[in-house]
Amino acid sequence: MGYNLLKGKKGIIFGALNEQSIAWKVAQIARREGAEIVLTNTPLALRMGTLNALAEECQAKVIAADATDVEGLESLVDEALGHFGGKFDFVLHAIGMSLNIRKGRTYENLDYGMYAKTLDISAMSFHKLLQTLHRKDALNEWGSVVGLSYVAAQRSFFGYNDMADAKSLLESITRNFGYVYGRDRRVRVNTVSQSPTMTTAGSGVQGFDGLFDFAERLSPLGNASAEECANFCVTLFSDLTRKVTMQNLFHDGGFSTMGMSEQVMELYQAGHEAKKS
Ligand code: NAI
Repeated sequence: MGYNLLKGKKGIIFGALNEQSIAWKVAQIARREGAEIVLTNTPLALRMGTLNALAEECQAKVIAADATDVEGLESLVDEALGHFGGKFDFVLHAIGMSLNIRKGRTYENLDYGMYAKTLDISAMSFHKLLQTLHRKDALNEWGSVVGLSYVAAQRSFFGYNDMADAKSLLESITRNFGYVYGRDRRVRVNTVSQSPTMTTAGSGVQGFDGLFDFAERLSPLGNASAEECANFCVTLFSDLTRKVTMQNLFHDGGFSTMGMSEQVMELYQAGHEAKKS
């Protein structure tokens, strides 16, 4: 059931790769809420072909763009302005990738070329996107830009590797561009810090299954699903959250505020006992 939260609104959604992607769910729910959307991903991701099914379902235009390439972002924004017949209202940045993680390199053995790429793809691209939108004055007043983050920006999670640094940078860009964009155009900029979620990017992280299970047991409300994350993102695109900006908003069932839960402790003690016997 929809609430028409995005009736008359238009936006660009980055990062839908397959049905598991958080961005995929955001596109579906934004559409259900009445939005008109443009979908974008890298030329390589588009060649995989699955995005066309989503585009059809959402009656969305698909435009290829590599989020690290400023010229590519400029043409994407120009094309979207043409397609929508003017300014638009929201953008989702759901982009993350670490070659160090893919290649199994640990944090004390990073390849610096790959590290720079992680930061560029997963964080600096957010600045490039915001700067392009701002320069072209592409967003309506009270527009909203959302990026997706993870609690490893604040706390140490060994398997998250150089992506943790990227998320810290992403959240810093959110604060600093949030100031500029709010001051100049009344546009909101926020990140949503999401629970571990079974997606292509998520399951690439070392020890992801264990982390997923641990977070599920530690969080009083359990892990938030991709669909629940999408529902939250849509509220941030809506007019109901106009004065929320420059924030990192935890959407994690309470995980980030927990220290220890009974469920985790029981399991820890049982493991301890099993080791002794
Ligand atoms: P996903 O693998 O479905 O999405 C990642 C997307 O980034 C893909 O669509 C990929 O094509 C795109 N991408 C990679 N390089 C790009 C580039 N140069 N230009 C444009 N797009 C590029 O995975 P997921 O989990 O939906 O990831 C979306 C966001 O959510 C990421 O920022 C991720 O870090 C974040 N997140 C994910 C969590 C998880 O456990 N899955 C938890 C917290 C945050």
